[in-house]
Amino acid sequence: MFDLLIRNGQVVFPDAVMEADVAVEGERIAGLLRTAEPPAARRVIDATGLYVVPGGIDAHVHFDMQFLGQSKHTFESGTIAAAFGGTTTVIDFTLDLDMQAGSLMEIVERRRAKAEGRAVVDFGFHCVVNNGSPQTLADLEKVVAYGIPSFKMFTVYREANLYANDAVVYNVMDRLRDLGGIAAVHTENADIVEHCTASLLAAGHRTPPHYPKSRPTFTEVECIRRVIFLARSAGAALYVVHIAAAGAVDAVRQARAEGQPVYGETCPHYLLLTEAMYARPDGYNFVMSPPLRTGRDTEALWSGLAGGWIATVSSDDNSIDVEDKRAGAESFDRASPGCVDVETRIPLLMSEGVRRRQLPITRLVEVASTNPARIFGLYPRKGILAAGSDADIVLIDPKAAVRASPQTLHMQVQYSPYEGWDIVGLPVMTISRGSVVIENGKFVGRAGHGRFLRRSIDPAVLRAPL
Ligand code: URP
Ligand code: ZN
Ligand code: ZN
Repeated sequence: MFDLLIRNGQVVFPDAVMEADVAVEGERIAGLLRTAEPPAARRVIDATGLYVVPGGIDAHVHFDMQFLGQSKHTFESGTIAAAFGGTTTVIDFTLDLDMQAGSLMEIVERRRAKAEGRAVVDFGFHCVVNNGSPQTLADLEKVVAYGIPSFKMFTVYREANLYANDAVVYNVMDRLRDLGGIAAVHTENADIVEHCTASLLAAGHRTPPHYPKSRPTFTEVECIRRVIFLARSAGAALYVVHIAAAGAVDAVRQARAEGQPVYGETCPHYLLLTEAMYARPDGYNFVMSPPLRTGRDTEALWSGLAGGWIATVSSDDNSIDVEDKRAGAESFDRASPGCVDVETRIPLLMSEGVRRRQLPITRLVEVASTNPARIFGLYPRKGILAAGSDADIVLIDPKAAVRASPQTLHMQVQYSPYEGWDIVGLPVMTISRGSVVIENGKFVGRAGHGRFLRRSIDPAVLRAPL
């Protein structure tokens, strides 16, 4: 007898949709069935009219982070919001105020301890590297062996002691090539961003409408091209986080066409919002790096998503609340950067992608679950509904709708970037390793259910583009 049987749903794979029943035994999927007579199961869920998709994997979140401002989401509240939005795995960063103290492994253990016992769905980390000391370079191997094969570097945030210069980026990539790791890089040109920011502030151009000029598009495009070149020279795989600019999409497309293993990530806010938001009275809420750009850029991101050049959509959830954001009303440099999207990521892809822009639902599954699983070493344990995979399963009702606001959503901030938008196509049930976490609009899971994921990347992903 199965523990759970999800009947009559439209089961979505990265390359097909088919009507099937999904049988679950314990924490795993036992099989996909197409039988007239349903087998016996302790619980049967009728998914008629619903999509049945693999649990979302959000490869870029910042929970319980005190660095660029204090995030409101703890590992408990952040993963609850994630689960409401159909996400059953999050990958955070070893990034916090205390990240300078100790070896990379000590920092990893400290961050892991913050999530253990609190996360309601499974979690992993990317290891942040901000220096190329012999000790750090030697430690990379230990971190990979521990189950963290992805390393984050920032080409900005010098003031926060996060900045990795070209030599650090290249040296880390040079090691990762041999260790089976991947570099994940935030790409903006620090020198020019710092120069533009200082010039604007000195001229008294301090309010949010001036913010995009402090980080012009070419600073993102120049940097992504440089970092792609460094990765090519090192022979390493590269994942570029939160792409906002059309020119950055072009750079990824070109590198991939030339056979380089480069993977581009964007976020719902870069797909859906433009720099017009900075002119609003609450423009400070949209301070993030890179900044929101133009309609031409959002269109290029949608094309990149449909065309396969953008590999993943993550939230980059950094839940800075309005009181901290509002500090940017008078001077944009005082607003802590970041946006919230951990709950809205999949609903917005359904509503604005599948429903409004004819994005195939198979592609949604690919960019929100299967590709992050493949790139970061979780596939086929996660990212696909197949026999033997973790029973991370989400039921999506394509007709269910919500009007976005802090009251209707479950994120712990008092604003929504999409306030008043009608989002159509919502997760209505979320299952993590066979346990129901969200049902009938309620959280029914348990803090501590989420487990730390040890990962190891398929060498094919590191050799050539997926
Ligand atoms: O402003 C943004 N994008 N979020 C904060 C940290 C990051 O990822 O750069
Ligand atoms: Zn970043
Ligand atoms: Zn981020």
